[in-house]
Amino acid sequence: MERFKSNLLSTKKTFSSALASISTLQELTALEATFLEKNGLIAQLLQEFKALSPENKRSCGTEFNAFREEIRTAIDAKKNALLLSPVNNRIQSRPIDVTAYKSEPKGSLHPETLAIQELENILITMGFQLAEGPELEQEWYNFDALNIPATHPARDMQDTFWVPQPHHLLRTHTSSVQIRAMQQQRPPLAISAIGRVYRCEATDACHDYMFLQCEGLVIDKNISLANLFATIKTLLQKLFHNNTLQIRVRPSYFPFVEPGVEIDLTCPFCSSGCPTCKRSRWIEICGAGLVHPNVLRAANINPQEWSGFAFGFGLTRLIMLKYGIDDIRHLHSAKIEFLQQF
Ligand code: DAH
Repeated sequence: MERFKSNLLSTKKTFSSALASISTLQELTALEATFLEKNGLIAQLLQEFKALSPENKRSCGTEFNAFREEIRTAIDAKKNALLLSPVNNRIQSRPIDVTAYKSEPKGSLHPETLAIQELENILITMGFQLAEGPELEQEWYNFDALNIPATHPARDMQDTFWVPQPHHLLRTHTSSVQIRAMQQQRPPLAISAIGRVYRCEATDACHDYMFLQCEGLVIDKNISLANLFATIKTLLQKLFHNNTLQIRVRPSYFPFVEPGVEIDLTCPFCSSGCPTCKRSRWIEICGAGLVHPNVLRAANINPQEWSGFAFGFGLTRLIMLKYGIDDIRHLHSAKIEFLQQF
């Protein structure tokens, strides 16, 4: 028992002086091995301890266990200190100057995202449900079901990106979502779809091969042009935050509506003519009309029972007007100077 006690004491002393002299991780690993490995100093002490009488075990056990714990804790603490010391040295040799802090530039939402969010909110408050369709679309949804059969000259009005898969294309307008929505829900319905469309065209300041459109479709009983005009006027007044804006309507032709119209808006940017409205005081906004009976039939809706209106406008163009963007190509240029303005 006395021998065990004196061995324990000398092991303690050896450990604390060895630990104090350590300055590298390798040295620490070696120390750990000397004390804690299978045949290390602690294991040897343990053998001696086991040989003690139960009474002696009771009198030295607590101290012995505490020492074993202490070694583990001390080695771990030393390891952490050694790992951190290069970092601490670096910090001390190059103190941080808190006054040199410069805030990082903040990110912002893309103007298209801002406009989509705002428009979606307006559409929802007006009772539209948001609908979606694929950008890689089937010919039938983009053309045939919208009363534009393969031989129809209107197919040439929109230059189409055909893809190698037969009867598939990049949708040329969001009107294709009309058919998908009518297949999914029975009337009465009011849906709107915002999304990208593609045209195989040369690009310039006003044309891009990809841009955003917004489509609207309402199907109910006894829908008339008056419903269409009231809806468009309200929508545009909300979008431009100006409820004095007026619309005017000109007859036009789109195969999927009859009658078809084009709708202009009084220029939201001036009162006496400006470059945006080309000094005319009017801005062309959208195509629209009453849904053609053939379109209703394609979606298995009885045109004797139901009628509806539809409209579609180029959202990208509205964004350019709203923010005074003079070249459509800026929108996808990823130029930081451009994006920082929003
Ligand atoms: N899809 C037409 C286009 O891309 C726009 C359009 C016109 C949509 C009349 C409509 C509509 O829903 O009724 O030029």
